[in-house]
Formats: sequence, structure tokens, C-alpha cells
Amino acid sequence: MIYMLDTADLNAITQAVDLYPIAGVTTNPSIIAKENRPFKAILLDIREVIGRERMLHAQVMGKDARTMLKEAQALRELDPQIIVKVPVTTQGLKAMKLIHAQGIRITATAILTPQQALMAAVAGAEFLAPYVNRLDNICGDGTAVAADMVQLIENYQLDAKVLAASFKNIQQVHKVALAGVQSVTIAPDLMEQLLVHP
Ligand code: G3P
Repeated sequence: MIYMLDTADLNAITQAVDLYPIAGVTTNPSIIAKENRPFKAILLDIREVIGRERMLHAQVMGKDARTMLKEAQALRELDPQIIVKVPVTTQGLKAMKLIHAQGIRITATAILTPQQALMAAVAGAEFLAPYVNRLDNICGDGTAVAADMVQLIENYQLDAKVLAASFKNIQQVHKVALAGVQSVTIAPDLMEQLLVHP
């Protein structure tokens, strides 16, 4: 299991990388907005805390592929090891092909169906992030979607990993782990809860 931390809170990241086997940090626009500081400064500070060996994921916000590509290039200028998160929209898929062609690592994000994940992997995404709780919240089955994604990766021998995201309770984390996802990204408070027993 590859554990990542889903936050831009520097104190929480500092504490978590000290305590837990954290392989990286994932951010998204709403996580960044909570910090009330400039985007680039936040990313540089996170990199300083986590070091060069851990992964750092940052999301593009453009609506069209060309804008997303430019954002990805700017992110790489800022941090050569950055993994660029791209939402799985039609333009996002186009952007993934362009970004992948430039050798920039990609996390396909906001995934709600296994077929979105499959096409994103074929387009060059290295990590595939299903939003487990958001699916559960609309009477979907986040775990089942994550499990299907694991199966598709195996069926097609894809060079991609499921990065399950959007957790709100430990049972969701446990179920996707049983389903064989390769990685999870978890908010710091939930990371602590993973170890709690009354
Ligand atoms: O990293 C993205 C994902 O974790 C989003 O979670 O809480 O906005 O559903 P949430």
C-alpha cells in the first residue's frame, strides 16, 4: 500500500511524515484554497517538508487541454518532480496525452466510473483517483468502482495504479485496501483514525 496525505496543511504534513510511512502528498484546488496563501508558495513549502524522495501532486484548473498543458508545464518549472492532477473530462483526457508526451507524470482525478479510469490510464495517467466518498454519497458504490479499476489494470496489464481518494471514514479505506488498490490518499485526521481502537 502506498499511503499519501491529502492536505496542504504544513503542520499536519510535518507531523505525518515524521510518524507514518507517507510516500507523498496530494493537493487539489479546495485543499489549496483552505491555506489562504499563494499556490506556488504552498507547493514549494510542501516540497521542502517532504523532501525530494516523496511525491507531490498538484492539480490544473483550466477547462481546455491547451490551458491544462500550460499549467502542467508551469508546475514542472516550479517543481521538476511534480505529479500533475488532471480531471477526467474530455478536455482532460486530451490534456493527459499532451502532458504525458512531455514526460510529465499524471494523476487522473475526480474519477467516478471505471471506464473513465481505463481511458485515463491508456492516455498516460500513472495514478487513477476514484472519489470513493462522493460516489457513496450519491448512492453509488465507491469501493466497487475502485475494485473494478484494479481489475481493469490487471486485465490490460496497464502501467497505472489506483489512488483511492475522498474518504470520510475508515471502513471506506479498509474496503478499498481489501479490493487491492495500490495507493490511498487520506486527510490527516482520518490517517490518525486508522490506528485507533477503543
Ligand atoms: O484529493 C481529492 C479528494 O480526496 C477529494 O475529497 O473530500 O473533496 O471529496 P473530497
